[in-house]
Amino acid sequence: MRGVVRGLPPQARMHWFLVVGTGCLTILLAAAAVWAHHSSFSPAELASTAILLVLAVAGESLAIQLISYERDPAAHSVGSAAAVAAIIVLPWYLAIPVVAVGMAASQLRNPGVKLAFNVSYISIQTAVAALAFNLAGGRSAVMSSGLVATPRALGILVLLALTYYVSGTFLVARLFAILSGDGLRTTLRATHLKTSLQEATTIGLGLMLGGFWLYNPAFVPFVVLPVVMAYFSIDTFVRIQEETRQAVLAMSESIDHRDPLTYNHSKRVAKLSVALAEEVALSHEQVATIELSALVHDIGKIGISSDVLMKPGKLTPEERAQMELHPVIGFDMLRHYKQFRKGLGIVRWHHETWEGNGYPDKLGGTDIPIEARIVSICDAYEAMTADRPYRKAMSAAVAMSRLEAASGTQFDPELVPAFRRAAERIGERVTDPIPLEQSPMTTRAKRVPAAVIYGRSMSAGRSMASPSSARPRRRQSSSGRCRPSAAIIDAGS
Ligand SMILES: [Fe+2]
Repeated sequence: MRGVVRGLPPQARMHWFLVVGTGCLTILLAAAAVWAHHSSFSPAELASTAILLVLAVAGESLAIQLISYERDPAAHSVGSAAAVAAIIVLPWYLAIPVVAVGMAASQLRNPGVKLAFNVSYISIQTAVAALAFNLAGGRSAVMSSGLVATPRALGILVLLALTYYVSGTFLVARLFAILSGDGLRTTLRATHLKTSLQEATTIGLGLMLGGFWLYNPAFVPFVVLPVVMAYFSIDTFVRIQEETRQAVLAMSESIDHRDPLTYNHSKRVAKLSVALAEEVALSHEQVATIELSALVHDIGKIGISSDVLMKPGKLTPEERAQMELHPVIGFDMLRHYKQFRKGLGIVRWHHETWEGNGYPDKLGGTDIPIEARIVSICDAYEAMTADRPYRKAMSAAVAMSRLEAASGTQFDPELVPAFRRAAERIGERVTDPIPLEQSPMTTRAKRVPAAVIYGRSMSAGRSMASPSSARPRRRQSSSGRCRPSAAIIDAGS
């Protein structure tokens, strides 16, 4: 564990030590208070502690994996309900160990460094919320209000919910923000906002559970049963969403598998795109969107006949027109799936070119979202370095030189040098010497026209916040339409 902590960046290490140190102190204080009061515990208090302990362990262990990409997983447990109820029902020095044990039991398979942080932060979170609740006179206010909640009792319960949510969220999000380098606001938006509704619901159930418990413990089963039912309902819903996402990914993969020469194409494009996105310091959230969307960027090829897709020779104009439909087919397919909406622009615009003569919308320059410009470069590079029915694979160095030759025409001139650095970093042999006869500078004109890289003999921003609503701004090439051109750099669409 010591080695793992040492391996953390200095700021993260400091935050870890601060949280774990304060958490240990909190648990020690609670233990000392338990020892001081142990002779005065009533049987009812002991029974409540035991039941809440069982609920805390069960609640923390019942984590629902919320829809989220593997790069950015988010799970939600229902342990907060037991924690909040424990704060209401039990004295603070009993609530803290109950919540800490619940968390520890769910974390036993995790590395010690994570277990220590999670148990510590939840102990601090419980202590802060219990302090606010007790200072506001919470138990007496809730007990005296009975089933008809008074404004004062409701206000105190809201205070408890807010202090519990904000303190826990801050302690965890701060660590994630340091580790990802995205900043606290971006981290909160990318991770905690996804689970905020579920967390608010769980905390609300905890408030109900605690309130009814104080009034009359006989009501407890009537609150616990709906919580259990809600858990299984949400779990089923989430599973269906996740299975849908996996089905779409499998569908996309099956397109790559239709042709043995494009096997793993999308996976390779995703890997390269992540490297380039990280090289230009896009946010964690953007990188996750790029990775997921790159995996499905060619899903629209499902609507293209195999004869066209795997044709070894040159495409006829009709076949080319059919092939150029795939970004729009993919866009129309994926816009029905919430999980893929953020990356719709990548799917639609990964064949646009910097000069504006790509397809389907002839966007150009920074009108093309940066995420789509990134995938465009990586798609071209991957296709050039793989065998195709109509030509052999190029070496990494030749493919790189062709990308550079098309920098500023087909590709974003700022992203191409970044791609070289990213490719080198992940082990692509882009710096190998190029035989003179294979250099694009000796085989073609020195300046590569736009719209030359994508497709066999055809070409292949703004933020992508809402590509479905954004009206693409057309940029006409000098001829007023997409220029067909010689296949200098060939990405096989
Ligand atoms: Fe494509």
